[in-house]
Amino acid sequence: MPTADQTLSRSNLTSANHALDMAWVRSQFPALAQTVKGRSATHPAVFLDGPGGTQVPQRVIDAISDYLSRNNANIGGAYETSRNTDRMIADARAAMADFLNCDADEIIFGANMTTLTFAMSRALGRDLGPGDEIVLTLLDHDANFSPWKALEEKGAIIRAVKFNEDDCTLDMNDLAAKIGKRTRLVAVGYASNAVGTINDVVEVARLARQAGALSYIDAVHYAPHGAIDVRALDCDFLACSTYKFFGPHMGVLYGKRELLKNIRPYKVRPNTDNIPNCWEWGTLNHECIAGIKACVDYWEELGRRANPAVTTRRGAILAAHSAVHQHEREMMEKMIAGLNTIPGLKLYGISDPQRFDNRCATFVVRIDGHTPLELATKLGERGFFTWDGNYYAMNLTEQLDVERLGGFLRIGLVQYNTMEEVEKLLTALRDIAE
Ligand SMILES: Cc1ncc(COP(=O)(O)O)c(C=O)c1O
Repeated sequence: MPTADQTLSRSNLTSANHALDMAWVRSQFPALAQTVKGRSATHPAVFLDGPGGTQVPQRVIDAISDYLSRNNANIGGAYETSRNTDRMIADARAAMADFLNCDADEIIFGANMTTLTFAMSRALGRDLGPGDEIVLTLLDHDANFSPWKALEEKGAIIRAVKFNEDDCTLDMNDLAAKIGKRTRLVAVGYASNAVGTINDVVEVARLARQAGALSYIDAVHYAPHGAIDVRALDCDFLACSTYKFFGPHMGVLYGKRELLKNIRPYKVRPNTDNIPNCWEWGTLNHECIAGIKACVDYWEELGRRANPAVTTRRGAILAAHSAVHQHEREMMEKMIAGLNTIPGLKLYGISDPQRFDNRCATFVVRIDGHTPLELATKLGERGFFTWDGNYYAMNLTEQLDVERLGGFLRIGLVQYNTMEEVEKLLTALRDIAE
């Protein structure tokens, strides 16, 4: 008999019928209670800026402040607060390992995804030479582009995969054609932080493996929206940022143990040669690591509330994602149907409800006669926090020729957003457009 956790991990995440306890979810995030003073009225703050960074539950704030109040110390010392710090970091590593489904020694903490990716590209670059090829995509955030493009200095050749302009999906034929005998690395995003497309990263990792190349997945945008299983993906590296899924401002990198052992990081001499610490430079942000543990605790409690039958932390994380997926799907359906009725509005990316499994609840739009900055400013005055510009997905905005026009307006939904907020946003946007 499979356990409840095993059943969950094998099941299609959309099929679970455990609902999110929205009142409980919202009560966890103190920031959601804020209001914004508009010209003529005060408005509740509506956080639609999740893709730029999410709010944090009270327990994350408490964990950071408790650590600084009681255990603030460096690691490896022969006294209590230092030992507590060592223990806390080990607990946070184990929690993140459950979040990504790997072992704790395969988890590297760092300042953010960009810094970790530059460090890995620099290390991998030591063994690259003229003629080695790196496959990147034009759909990706620049943090999964420029660190690899920098290896042109070593003679590496960059091969950039196109995307289909009609629906902003990756051109998988182009990707397959660009991977060849000389390919050393394939770097691809799990989901686009602009148009919301979810890429077939299982297939990308398989194509890379088949060619004897490494795969590097940028899961920063995907992490709040779907369960990540690095074992099932069989990818070599996967990076994410905890501040995008309700944790503090930090980055996390997963790497397969054998690779982390064999690739040579640049490091200071006194630092250990053992993984994962040899990949962590200088003193880390311990208080934020305490916050990461609390962030995973939040996901765990969310999952246990959604499905009390789960027995493990990983099972609870999967249950949480299952409930989140359902909620975000309902909001996405309402949002896209509503956006399509606004005069002069163009939505970029997948809009066919039959294909909603291939996108997450992140939307970029342009409205005739308004720049994205004007739209974001007008919405901001009414309490809606959205974003304008390119969000560093520069290859995308350039190819779609909107970079010179101020990019897009981005509206991002996460688990703490509500159907009511979607309705209010649609009303405000229609009002501004008209
Ligand atoms: C898809 C994606 N990748 C990478 C990054 C960079 O992450 P970080 O700020 O942790 O360096 C972002 C940040 O917005 C992102 O959305």
